Amino acid sequence: MKSWADDARQKGLRIGFVPTMGYFHEGHLALMRRAKELADQVVVSIFVNPIQFGPQEDFRQYPRDLERDIRLAQEVGVDVIFTPEAQEMYPESFQTYVEVAKLTKPLCGARRPGHFRGVTTVCLKLFNIVRPHLAVFGLKDYQQYLVIRRMVADLDLDLEIIGHPIVREADGLAMSSRNVYLSTEERKSATCLYKALCLAQEKIKQGLREVSLLKRELEQFILSHPYTRIDYVEFCHPETLEPLSEVRGPTLLALAVFVGKARLIDNAVLKP
Ligand code: PAJ
Repeated sequence: MKSWADDARQKGLRIGFVPTMGYFHEGHLALMRRAKELADQVVVSIFVNPIQFGPQEDFRQYPRDLERDIRLAQEVGVDVIFTPEAQEMYPESFQTYVEVAKLTKPLCGARRPGHFRGVTTVCLKLFNIVRPHLAVFGLKDYQQYLVIRRMVADLDLDLEIIGHPIVREADGLAMSSRNVYLSTEERKSATCLYKALCLAQEKIKQGLREVSLLKRELEQFILSHPYTRIDYVEFCHPETLEPLSEVRGPTLLALAVFVGKARLIDNAVLKP
C-alpha cells in the first residue's frame, strides 16, 4: 500500500481516501463517489478496528462481507481496496495511541470510553500508510468527523478532511452497517431518531428555545416507540460540542438510541 501511494504521488496524482469498517451501504458508496470527484485515485480501507470497540461491544458480531464490498467498491470505480489484518496493524509490540483531549469527552466519548482513541489511532496509521491528499468522512458520525479534523489540524497533517452529508433510507433512517441487527418490528421503531430530529426543528421553528423542555419532548417521543432505550439526547455547540441550555444559533442535536440491541446514532444541525 505504501509503495503504491509513493508511486502515485511521484506521478503527481491526487489520492482520495475513504476509511471504512466495510459491510457497505449507500452511505459508504456516496463517500467513495465524492472522493472520485475530488481525486485522481481513490483508496478505500476495510478494517474492523478492534481497538475502537469496548469489551462489551459488538466487535465479534460486527457484520462482514468482503466479497460483496469489493464488488460494490469496484462498481463505483474505486482504484484500491486496502484490507490490512489486525496482526499487521497491531503487532504484539504495539503501544502508541493518539488522543484528542476535549472533543472526545461528551456524547459518544462519554458512553464509549476509549472509542475515539481507537478511531484517531487507526486513522492516523491509515493516513500514514495510504498518504492521501484528502479523506472523506460522513457527518452521520458527526463527533468522529470533528475529532479527526482536530487531530489533522493539531498534528499538522498534510491532508484535507471532507465532510459528507448523512445518507438516509426512504423513511429517513440513517444508513448504517448496524441496521442489520434490527428485526422487522425494531426497524419500524428505528425511524423515531430521524422523526425526533424533524420534530425538534419544528418545535424550534415554533419558538421553543429552552433545551430542557425540548429534551423532555424528544425523550417522550422516542420512548413512545417500542424497543427503544435512550443513550443520550444532547443539544450542543456544533464546533466545540459544549452543551447548550438554549437554542440561539446553529445547534447540534445528537441522538444515540438503542433499538433492541442495536445502538443507533443520528444528528442534525438545527437552526432557529
Ligand atoms: P464505518 O462505520 O464503516 O463508516 C465509514 C464512513 O462512512 C464514516 O466516515 C461514516 O461517517 C460514513 N457513514 C456511515 N454511514 C453513513 C451515512 N448514512 N451517511 C453518510 N456517511 C456515512 O466510521 C467508521 O467506519 C470507523 O470509525 C473508521 C473511521 C473507519 C475508523 O475505524
